[in-house]
Amino acid sequence: MEAQRESWGSKTGFILAAAGSAIGLGNIWKFPYIAGENGGASFVIVYLICIAVIGFPVLIAEILIGRSTQRNPVGAFFKLSGSKFWAGVGGMGIVGGFLILSFYAIIAGWSIGYIVEAIDGNFFNFVEETASAQHFLNLVGNVYWILGYFIFFMMLTTVIVFAGVKKGIERGSKIMMPILFFLLIILMIRGITLNGAEKGLEFLWNPDWSKINANTILIALGHAFFTLSLGMGAMLTYGSYMSKKDNIISSAFQIVFLDTIIALIAGIAIFTAVFATGLNPQAGPGLIFHTLPSVFIKMPGGYFFSILFFILLTLAALTSSISLLEVVVSYFVDERKWKRHHAAIVLAFFITLLGVPSALSYNVLSDFTIAGKNFFDLVDFIASNILLPLGGLLISVFVAWKWGFKKVLPNLREGAENLFEKYPWVISFWKIFLKYFSPILIFLVFLNSIGILDKIIELFF
Ligand code: PHE
Repeated sequence: MEAQRESWGSKTGFILAAAGSAIGLGNIWKFPYIAGENGGASFVIVYLICIAVIGFPVLIAEILIGRSTQRNPVGAFFKLSGSKFWAGVGGMGIVGGFLILSFYAIIAGWSIGYIVEAIDGNFFNFVEETASAQHFLNLVGNVYWILGYFIFFMMLTTVIVFAGVKKGIERGSKIMMPILFFLLIILMIRGITLNGAEKGLEFLWNPDWSKINANTILIALGHAFFTLSLGMGAMLTYGSYMSKKDNIISSAFQIVFLDTIIALIAGIAIFTAVFATGLNPQAGPGLIFHTLPSVFIKMPGGYFFSILFFILLTLAALTSSISLLEVVVSYFVDERKWKRHHAAIVLAFFITLLGVPSALSYNVLSDFTIAGKNFFDLVDFIASNILLPLGGLLISVFVAWKWGFKKVLPNLREGAENLFEKYPWVISFWKIFLKYFSPILIFLVFLNSIGILDKIIELFF
């Protein structure tokens, strides 16, 4: 079985594909809008801490589980533990992939829709700066517009996963990621040079700690997982196609570095523009669609750049969405013996069905809320802020306590011999972070967000 399994063509192939999974709407669409809703700089700092002390160690652990077992999440946990409970943790990841893709593809659909808007030159019709916000609301208010592009994007995702790992996923990422990077830098420079950009930079750099509470910390933690594609087995699955000759630790570092840099560049590009144009930083999921059109119309070559940007954003979303679908598909292929082609089509169909009520939350179902959240926000919250951190907690506990470092380290060492010899402290840090920091911190954030931590503190002090 192992001999027939697909694999990456090269080490850069893995890094680009994994970075392609990590870098996506999370960085460019979600990070700016949740930073805007949760107070800017202080949120960004909490998020960066979560990335460094939890995200990075858990990323190494997740890739390692995949590479050591060469299995999908369920099969991988089962192979290492022989226990149904741990296989269930992998199963939670499959569910996570299902849920995330169902709303992720809707936003990616907006991005495709905006390619068409850009080509039509519609942004140049806006007289006032706030007109772009109204234009966005009109578009998502249209059931056919939102469902049509959503379904179209799901079809694109399916086609690539259908084609398989090397031909589909790896080749695409190699070309698209570098172009996206350069375009974002151009947008950032345009943002910084706008009149009034300083207010945006201030919003991003001057922390206001009064804005931080239990809920914002949970959101920052959830986003650290979301943006690194962690806690639901996507990195595990990609790791399962990785060669034992490659260094997991340095690969993980590069992924974290690229992902974080892109989010920060996107943040600067958006917030300079938001403040320079007097838009509302708390606009929610529509933020970049409100903001960027007004930046493009102020740029030389704005017509061309706006088209290119939304094409690249769509492609960045695509390199992430395929990793979401791949997790679900690999489970059905490995464990249920489905054919890859059959699995890709059937599963994508059900994910699309689940996405329909989320798409309708922007129009017909906009008044329908559960616990103050519309259907879209609810699915996002459950998946991103509960399932992913919980997955990360369990992955840490699994590697550090159940699998055990005695067995873990020889596996991690493969491909990283140099690093083990020259920088043994890196390994020691990783062990401590995984064994204590990450499980305890995630646990505390959960307690905090359901309000139990306050009561415990009161009890003792
Ligand atoms: N990391 C992706 C992004 O930032 C989203 C994602 C989450 C992909 C979880 C796979 C798994 O856009």
